[in-house]
Amino acid sequence: MKLDITQALIGADKVNALRGKVEEAQQALEQGTCPGNDYVGWLHLPTGITPEFIQEIQQTADTLRKECDTVVVAGIGGSYLGARAVIEALQNSFQWLVNKGENPNVLFAGNNIGEDYLYELTAYLKDKKFGVINISKSGTTTETALAFRLLKKQCEEQRGKDMARKVIVAITDAKRGAARTCADKEGYKSFIIPDNVGGRFSVLTPVGLLPIAIAGFDIAALVKGAQDMERQTAVGVPFEENPAAQYAAVRNALYQEGKKIEIIANYQPKLHYIGEWWKQLYGESEGKDHKGIFTAAVDLTTDLHSMGQWIQDGERSIFETVISVAKPEHTLFFPSDEENLDGLNFLAGKRVDEVNKMAELGTKLAHVDGGVPNLRIELERLDEYNLGQLIYFFEKGCGISGLLLEVNPFNQPGVEAYKKNMFALLGKPGYEAETEAIRKRLS
Ligand code: PA5
Repeated sequence: MKLDITQALIGADKVNALRGKVEEAQQALEQGTCPGNDYVGWLHLPTGITPEFIQEIQQTADTLRKECDTVVVAGIGGSYLGARAVIEALQNSFQWLVNKGENPNVLFAGNNIGEDYLYELTAYLKDKKFGVINISKSGTTTETALAFRLLKKQCEEQRGKDMARKVIVAITDAKRGAARTCADKEGYKSFIIPDNVGGRFSVLTPVGLLPIAIAGFDIAALVKGAQDMERQTAVGVPFEENPAAQYAAVRNALYQEGKKIEIIANYQPKLHYIGEWWKQLYGESEGKDHKGIFTAAVDLTTDLHSMGQWIQDGERSIFETVISVAKPEHTLFFPSDEENLDGLNFLAGKRVDEVNKMAELGTKLAHVDGGVPNLRIELERLDEYNLGQLIYFFEKGCGISGLLLEVNPFNQPGVEAYKKNMFALLGKPGYEAETEAIRKRLS
């Protein structure tokens, strides 16, 4: 994985001016003296993962792979985005249609409260040999609990209680929460989300690793990529050679210059959910105390035909971070056409990826000309190892960046506001005072 900041449109002096603060942030993370220091368990998580632990996860994955044609992951936010991002980046774009049964289809629920979504999902599952992974650190998240209740009941009815016990797995807190109580009572296989790892930093725990292994991908290689990036971004690596330190410094320098929006851009549709995962990681970590870069994601070239105008020509408060994949897995050449009705014979014999790369370069030049700073991350290929590197790079960059911004990057107090109102509106016991306050406000 390479980071190129040469087109960041910010003087090296401004980036280097943050070197001292970056080093302080790294020390604070390392020594556990930063705000949110009880949630820095992700810092050395990759190098702490043992082969035995990977084997334990793989064994559970193998049980579900044997017994299920479909596995539904119930989780929201940090409890599903990482797994979905890696699975969608690695699997065939038409997985559902081409799957000949070698891997279970991994579906996601519990990340919305759409009645149609849940109805259609449960209808789809009616003739499926399905299993469920219930992922919730708190064990009390409404979206996830609601979906799990439906899925558990359906799984027990369709597959019988004994088989349901075999194919339902819980990933939750060691002791607290309804998901833990249920798992212990029913005797489900369960994994623990470490206390000191917050949801959006948990993809390299069983939260991400189990669904990824069930989908048939090599979690040892993913972890190896993360381990190598942990070393490349460690305290003591010079500022100029540490990609996470550079990324954190550049984006904060840009923010100080009025660049309030960062778009993550990909040129491979398979990376769509990497963008969604990144959006949460940075948005939820930094959007605090009325500060923080607004994170948005675009799929290119698709969104050049929707957001391209704004990016090129709208308010100059934006910068972009492009994720580019050097070598696609497959090779496809444009054919020549005798009639050339579409006028595309000038592309004949070229790889589709060459056209994509020229679109990327052309866009970068245009954006830079238009005053949009461009940061570029290049992955050699889309595989487990490179994604492991990318994940840890972004996590480390996020920890440093949040501390540069002087917020606690590891909490999310703002997320509670909607929950309180929703519970009050739904009449949850214990919320009577809030219900009354809302009733008055709405009358
Ligand atoms: O990053 C976070 O902490 C959040 O996004 C959580 O992952 C999300 O709210 C889900 O919470 P839980 O795992 O407790 O159900």
